[in-house]
Amino acid sequence: MRDRLRAIPVFENVRETEAEERVLPDNPLPLIADWLLAAHAAGQPEPHAISLSTVDRSGVPSSRVLIVKDIDGEGLFFATGADSRKGREIAANPRVAAHFHWPVVGRQVRIVGTAAPVGRGASEADFAERGHDAQLAAHLHQPGPLPDRAAALDEFERLAEKYPDEVPAPPSWTLFAITPTEVEFWEASVDRVHHRISYRRENSAWHRELLWP
Ligand SMILES: Cc1cc2nc3c(=O)[nH]c(=O)nc-3n(C[C@H](O)[C@H](O)[C@H](O)COP(=O)(O)O)c2cc1C
Repeated sequence: MRDRLRAIPVFENVRETEAEERVLPDNPLPLIADWLLAAHAAGQPEPHAISLSTVDRSGVPSSRVLIVKDIDGEGLFFATGADSRKGREIAANPRVAAHFHWPVVGRQVRIVGTAAPVGRGASEADFAERGHDAQLAAHLHQPGPLPDRAAALDEFERLAEKYPDEVPAPPSWTLFAITPTEVEFWEASVDRVHHRISYRRENSAWHRELLWP
């Protein structure tokens, strides 16, 4: 295994760029949006997929991938069930870390901040934009383990018959905002002297500095 892993290349798609020489915005959030759209334009599959880490009451972390639904000047938005593991962990401790990796452009973005529900209206609007099957699937969650896959398929079938057209939003369906306090942009360089730009929010103002590679 070790030899096979060592033989897999990294930074295959790195272009010569000078990240610190571009005009950097005072607020990192528009730059996250720019990098996401640049990754999309370069052919990165699922560039809006973000890894979100939460912690439980004992400080034990866990991560999973989510789809980012929007980015504005204050934060990033994702939707999930408030009764999910991540939803329960955020309710107990809103501190989160999140991470994008876009290998097609040799870039990553690290985010540290807090997550909070946005509100019922926004959550229902998010749910209304989901496809019909995705809306039905959001109703599948039940407490306890799944006995077998057939049970989930049967339940999906029952929901499809119950809601052939409009599917009501489950009360737990929630749009969350991640409000960052730290954002770090990382860009691979062909000479291996990689670019790192760090933003930190202090007293509601963003401070920017370059970091050693
Ligand atoms: C590409 C991708 C996108 C996903 N998008 C979402 C999403 O937007 N919302 C969501 O609740 N789960 C999404 N999931 C599933 C989550 O990663 C996770 O398995 C699920 O939400 C349960 O997480 P939890 O038990 O930690 O709460 C996605 C998974 C992948 C691989």
